[in-house]
Amino acid sequence: MSTFEIQYARATTRVTVEPGALGSLGRALAHHMKPTRVLMVSDETVAGLYGDTAVASLREAAVDVELLALPPGDATKSLTSAHRIYDRLGEVKLARDGALVALGGGMVSDLTGFVAATWMRGVGFAICPTTLEADVDASIGGKTAVNHRAGKNLIGVFHQPDVVHIDPVCLQTLERRDVVAGLAESIKHAAITDERFLGWHEQHREKVLAVDPAVTGQLIERNVRIKADVVARDEREQTGVRASLNFGHTIGHAIESARGYALRHGECVGLGMVAACRICVSLGLLAAASSDRVIRCLESYGLPVRLEEPFAEDELLFYLARDKKVAAGRVRFTLLDGLGKTVLRNDVPESVILDAYRSLIAH
Ligand SMILES: NC(=O)c1ccc[n+]([C@@H]2O[C@H](COP(=O)([O-])OP(=O)(O)OC[C@H]3O[C@@H](n4cnc5c(N)ncnc54)[C@H](O)[C@@H]3O)[C@@H](O)[C@H]2O)c1
Ligand SMILES: [Zn+2]
Repeated sequence: MSTFEIQYARATTRVTVEPGALGSLGRALAHHMKPTRVLMVSDETVAGLYGDTAVASLREAAVDVELLALPPGDATKSLTSAHRIYDRLGEVKLARDGALVALGGGMVSDLTGFVAATWMRGVGFAICPTTLEADVDASIGGKTAVNHRAGKNLIGVFHQPDVVHIDPVCLQTLERRDVVAGLAESIKHAAITDERFLGWHEQHREKVLAVDPAVTGQLIERNVRIKADVVARDEREQTGVRASLNFGHTIGHAIESARGYALRHGECVGLGMVAACRICVSLGLLAAASSDRVIRCLESYGLPVRLEEPFAEDELLFYLARDKKVAAGRVRFTLLDGLGKTVLRNDVPESVILDAYRSLIAH
C-alpha cells in the first residue's frame, strides 16, 4: 500500500493508492477528516458497481453517509445537477463539519468538488476515483467545474480534496476504450517530465492493458506524484508551470470540439500529442527519433494516431482561435524541448500547425 501527502500552499491532500482500497475508504475519512456527516455523490453506473461497498465501508467506520446517484455522462456536469446536490445537502442538514465524497470518474469529481467548494463557502471533500482519467489526472490539482452552454468547464473554482483514495481494482470494470483513453494522460506526463517513465510504459504495456492492479497501481502513483509536483509549483495556473500539462491539448481540444465530443478526451489528446510532436520536430526542438518514440508508444497502447473523418483546416483554425490558451491573438502551444522538458511557444507559424494537422490525416 502506498499513502503519501501532497503539500500545497494552503492545503494538504492525503493520497492512498492500493488494490482493495475501496474497503478502507471509511477508515481513511474517519481518520483524516472526521466528518460528522457525508453525502457521497456518484453516477448511476458507478453507484451500481461500487456504491454498496463504499457506503458499507463508511458505516463500518461509524461515518453517517447518504448516497446520491446522478445520470452518467458529461451532460450531468451542470449547474442543474449542482442544484440537486445542494437540495440534498439542505435536506440532510450538512454543515461545515460535514463532507462530500465523489465516487466515480472525472465528471463526478469535478461536479462534486464544485459543490464542496461552494456549499457554506467550502466543506470537506474526498475523491474515490474509478476511471483511469480520474486516477491520473482529474483527482489531482483542485480544479473543479461544471459546464455551461458556452463551453465545457467554464464555471468553476479551485478546491483541493482533503483525501484521494484510489483503488486500481475498480478499473477492471471500466470499458477498455476508457482505460486506453486515460493512458494518453499518463504518456503525456511521461513525455513532459520523465523520459524513464516513457520507457516504463514501453516495458509494461501488456500488464497495463490487462489492468493488472499491482502494475496500474504503480502507474497511477507515478502519475499522481508527477501531476502534484507540477501543480504545487503553480496551483492557480499563474506562472506557466502548470501550463506544461497542456501538452497535446491545444490541437486536442480543437479536435474534440470539431468532432462534437464523439471521441474520448484522451483520444483527442493523443492525436494532439502526435501533432505537437511533429511541430516540435519542425521547430528543431525535438529529434525525429524522440517524436517517433512518443507516437509509437501512443499507438502501441491502442490510441489513434491518425484522425478518421477529418474536418476542414479552416475549422481547425477556428477552434484554435477560440481556445482558452489564445493570448493577444496568438495560439499558445506547450511543446517538448527534448523528452522530459517543456517550453511554451506562441510563435508557431500557421503553416507549421497546418502541416502537423495534415500529417494526422495522411494515410
Ligand atoms: N479537474 C481536472 O483537473 C480534470 C482533468 C481531466 C478531466 N477532467 C474532467 O473529467 C471528465 C472526464 O473524466 P472521465 O473520463 O472519468 O469521465 P466520466 O466520469 O464521465 O466516466 C466515464 C464513464 O465511465 C463510467 N465509469 C466510471 N467508472 C467506472 C468503472 N470503474 N467501471 C465501469 N464504468 C465506469 C461512467 O459511468 C461514465 O459512463 C470530464 O468532465 C473532464 O472535464 C477534469
Ligand atoms: Zn486532458
